[in-house]
Amino acid sequence: MGLTYFFRDLQTLELIRDQALPTLNSYQRISIWDAGCARGPEPYTLALLLRETLGEAGYGKVSITASDLDPTGKFCGIVTEAIYGRDEVDRVPPEILERHFKPVDGGDRYQVSAEVRSAVHFTQHDLLALKPVGQGFGLILCKNVLLHFTEEERRNVMRMFYEALIPGGYFATEQTQKLPADLQMLFEPVVSHAQLYRKRGGA
Ligand SMILES: C[S@@+](CC[C@H](N)C(=O)[O-])C[C@H]1O[C@@H](n2cnc3c(N)ncnc32)[C@H](O)[C@@H]1O
Repeated sequence: MGLTYFFRDLQTLELIRDQALPTLNSYQRISIWDAGCARGPEPYTLALLLRETLGEAGYGKVSITASDLDPTGKFCGIVTEAIYGRDEVDRVPPEILERHFKPVDGGDRYQVSAEVRSAVHFTQHDLLALKPVGQGFGLILCKNVLLHFTEEERRNVMRMFYEALIPGGYFATEQTQKLPADLQMLFEPVVSHAQLYRKRGGA
């Protein structure tokens, strides 16, 4: 259930960069919630794309709250330390690995740079408690998590995301996850070929 890897579903992340980031970058802070982040490759992939796109100064206004149910209690340490085995970083483009990771243990493992780590904060959180980790997010990313819930749970979690977003904020989920018909008044699709939505009624 915790399967994840760096640069997974790059298409959606690049759509976020190209379609949502120009708007998000017009705010003082870029506040993101990655819900169901597992061991961290997903929030760090997003962080790396943002760092590459915004540069050092622009990246300073990014904050990513990475949350997971974390049944083992181990994800907080893993995400905070951000040290991954060589096999786990094999999808990271070599130039990004070179720029934003530091080899440790003689190159057997790699640690995400302190700068990139500084924007990512882990919190243990159960989505089904239906209490958001915060408010005022510009983007909520929740991928490969909702499929484990019942239809009713999915609807409730998506409504919670709606409430936690700023007006005009973005919500992204995996390609195979469709927005329930009765929630289409809450979100509008940003593109036709991916599950990237914008909160209606704002901005
Ligand atoms: C397949 S992983 C997805 C990881 C990442 N989002 C990705 O797409 O690569 C699913 C994650 O959802 C988390 N999860 C399952 N139920 C949850 C819940 N009720 N609240 C928060 N996280 C949950 C699991 O612990 C697991 O880490």
